Amino acid sequence: MRAAGRPLSSLLESTTHADVCVIGAGIAGLSVAYQLCRAGRSVIVLEAHEIGSGETGRTTAHLVNALDERYCEIARLHGEHGARLAASSHTRAIEEIESIVNRERIDCEFERLPGYLFAPAGDDPGILNRELEAAHQAGLVEVELIPRAPLVGFETGPCLRFPNQGQFHPFKYLSGLATAIQGMGGIIHTNTHVTRIGGGAHARVETSGGPVVPAKFVVVATNTPANDLITIHTKQAAYRSYVIGAHIPKGSVTRALYWDTLDPFHYVRVQAETDAHDVLIVGGEDHRTGQADETGERFSSLAAWALERFPMIDYVPYRWSGQVMQSIDGLAFIGRNPGDEPNVLIVTGDSGNGMTHGTIAGLLLTDLILGKTNPWTSLYDPARISLRSAGRFLALTANTAAQYADLITPGEIDSTDQIHPDAGAILRRGLSKVAVYRDKKGCLNEFSAVCPHLGCVVNWNITEKTWDCPCHGSRFEAMGGVISGPAESGLKSAQ
Ligand code: FES
Repeated sequence: MRAAGRPLSSLLESTTHADVCVIGAGIAGLSVAYQLCRAGRSVIVLEAHEIGSGETGRTTAHLVNALDERYCEIARLHGEHGARLAASSHTRAIEEIESIVNRERIDCEFERLPGYLFAPAGDDPGILNRELEAAHQAGLVEVELIPRAPLVGFETGPCLRFPNQGQFHPFKYLSGLATAIQGMGGIIHTNTHVTRIGGGAHARVETSGGPVVPAKFVVVATNTPANDLITIHTKQAAYRSYVIGAHIPKGSVTRALYWDTLDPFHYVRVQAETDAHDVLIVGGEDHRTGQADETGERFSSLAAWALERFPMIDYVPYRWSGQVMQSIDGLAFIGRNPGDEPNVLIVTGDSGNGMTHGTIAGLLLTDLILGKTNPWTSLYDPARISLRSAGRFLALTANTAAQYADLITPGEIDSTDQIHPDAGAILRRGLSKVAVYRDKKGCLNEFSAVCPHLGCVVNWNITEKTWDCPCHGSRFEAMGGVISGPAESGLKSAQ
């Protein structure tokens, strides 16, 4: 994708003002910027890398009101009214994407299609009936139970059909959004690293190159907010999710969205690529970031699952993974940053529905900034606390606390001789734990294994050759540089 912005330092020596400074140029950041520009506000977007280079570039772009958390749980956690608001807000998000695509003439392969939720053999068959009832109570009255999904050769058994879902090409959509933002006078600076965010009467965003953006409001639309040290991270957990893209004969799989009810579940859709073939996109095999040792088997498990059900698969040229921030109650956090100045807003906790949650953020945060009431404010409030989700909160807290035990356990290996080229492992050295990476030339590179966010011990991710933190999902390159927060800096060199 072309970069629509330029580094801030190439344009400014010191300071430029904006009504709103948006940090992050994924679906959420650009949706917010787009809506604010339409409302006549001056907007500057700062992106550390390129547009869509974060999780939006890794999504499979299912546009759904059939939420990953499912309506049985959404209703339990948020009540019947909350479930209705959740359903209507995600329905509205798909409509908003469609209207933006049409208004801005964005060629991003947007299309409406149905989604099918099926219960595989061995799973509780009653789950579909319960979900059907919950979806109807949430206002999705067109959802229906049908005998099987429209797949040739794959007998899914009974499934729920959700009409009017959608899909698009996320990079092409973001490119169109960026062009529209710039056409309305918005400014996007890529490759611009934010070093400090300050709210209040003199809100400002500082960048590593030196330039500063004073603004009336700051919106932090990175996947996870580095400006929030603790609060939000006690209410969401990071998961890795894996995806393969397989060539299949054109038209051999009915174009639709598909999911099963397993935990973790599989998700499938079809993407056109050439006149001769489509790409079958298959995802799943999720696990807590930094908490799985056998990540190398995830792709092969996914391919085996897909081949058994879609024997027309020719070969698998694509594979990638992404990070999902799962909130404890299944919905994103969109609104004022808890414990911060009221003019600092965040969007995080995508919960697997990042495209629609990001679009909801565009509408909701714009209303908050403009001082308008919005019916979704309480539902998505980042400060929300509910006794209904107390069990999940305690489980998440216990899981995080358990990760700190790694500070006192032995290392994974006794000697660096045991590390192969282009691989890493954790070693104990006295009171410290050291993350050791042997590069392709055989040279050793040693870092403190302690995550600079809140001090957990990172783990080596054998598939992606990264250091992943099991507590709140920060990720680091093999050579220690930070890939994604909440950590703001990389691993320190070992002493
Ligand atoms: Fe929080 Fe590592 S991400 S301690």
